[in-house]
Amino acid sequence: MAFEYKDTPGDTEWFVHDRFGMFIHWGVYAAAGRHEWVKKYEQMTDQQYQKYFDHFDPDLYDPTQWAKLAKAAGMKYFVITTKHHDGCCLWDTALTDWKVTNAPAGRDLIAPMVEAFRAEGLKVGFYHSLIDWTHPEYTLDRMHPRAADEEYVRANQDRDWSKYVEYLHGCVRELMSSLGKIHYIFFDYSYSSAPAEGLLGPGKGKADWHAEELIAMVRELQPGIVINDRTELPQDLVTPEQVQPAGPVRDQDGKLLIWEACQTFSGSWGYYRDQLDWKSPEMIVKMLVDGVAKGGNMLFNVGPTGRGEIEPRAVERLKAVGAWMQLNGRSIYGCGPSEFAPPGDGRFTQNAAGDRLYLHMFSWPFKHIYCPDLGDKVDYAQLLNDGSEIAISDAEKMHHRLPEHAKNTLVLEIPVQKPPVEVPVIELFLKE
Ligand code: GLC
Repeated sequence: MAFEYKDTPGDTEWFVHDRFGMFIHWGVYAAAGRHEWVKKYEQMTDQQYQKYFDHFDPDLYDPTQWAKLAKAAGMKYFVITTKHHDGCCLWDTALTDWKVTNAPAGRDLIAPMVEAFRAEGLKVGFYHSLIDWTHPEYTLDRMHPRAADEEYVRANQDRDWSKYVEYLHGCVRELMSSLGKIHYIFFDYSYSSAPAEGLLGPGKGKADWHAEELIAMVRELQPGIVINDRTELPQDLVTPEQVQPAGPVRDQDGKLLIWEACQTFSGSWGYYRDQLDWKSPEMIVKMLVDGVAKGGNMLFNVGPTGRGEIEPRAVERLKAVGAWMQLNGRSIYGCGPSEFAPPGDGRFTQNAAGDRLYLHMFSWPFKHIYCPDLGDKVDYAQLLNDGSEIAISDAEKMHHRLPEHAKNTLVLEIPVQKPPVEVPVIELFLKE
């Protein structure tokens, strides 16, 4: 193995191979169309929020279409919000009436999604919110939408936290036992460092969620499942959010950790009609490549509309990313970080067997690419998008142009025109 991660309890082999997944944030907040945190941001009462529930009618929902889109983008797994912080359940749970089956949607939205994505060969993951802004026993802290309403806070001092914990565990039990094999669960999130304030309690973390028990139950019901770190108990992976780490993520002993960055198109997770800061396909491909070069996965989010569609702005971009993946997926799937340092503007990934290096060029230089320390290591080089040879310059002849210390440099002769893909990849076949 060219790269090896620190051991974890779950079966992560598929996870570090697949590298690219689809995150889906969907719920009644899609009807507001201005962020899944709208209830908190606008400090709404339950009654004020109710109108989104009452108008959540995804008549165009076609999970097969979503699954085909994810697959065509090159994504290998998906993670759907079974419940977000607003507490509204997307499946037909027996444990609350605050579920979409009681909204105009009128049906379980999770079971058909699981079936559709599975049919397209994608692995199934659930995002489940630990936080709940609607449950009547969720004790109040600064995170709650009504935290600034003194009267409300005073009137809600007798909440029974143990009932919420029972509910949380019950919901997770349902999800882990009624839908077949689940590969991944993404709990969200802990904030135990937030201080108490007046009548508001401190933030919540692993002790509050009874995380040890919760995780033990999940592992018993779904052996091998991959679990994230946001219960506050380290499990299989760490989950940086809307950032690209500076380099491979390691523990104190220098061991590589599995990580997955979750990313959005425009900043919001839930559908946000008026947000215009959309990433280009080129930027998305670069983020994916940069992540794999640092040993990470990318979970890329879509926020379907209240009518149940993945909007055109997202479709167009996913298709462009898919076109790149179609030609260049070999540098992503099954690949990870390399010990070789890439040339300027480049990112290396390396396959698990260690005999191929993939050089991704984030800008296209004139005529030559100089790769330090690889002068005596490469047998053959080709452009990945069309399998055409890239000539290796005779290092001896090049040496007058290279500084003395850089003699073992591989010199690639490249065409003047940048190949017609977002990020060109040069595949280097290493000598035995
Ligand atoms: C955050 C946000 C949330 C989003 C999530 C995705 O914790 O609260 O809205 O679901 O991250 O990682």
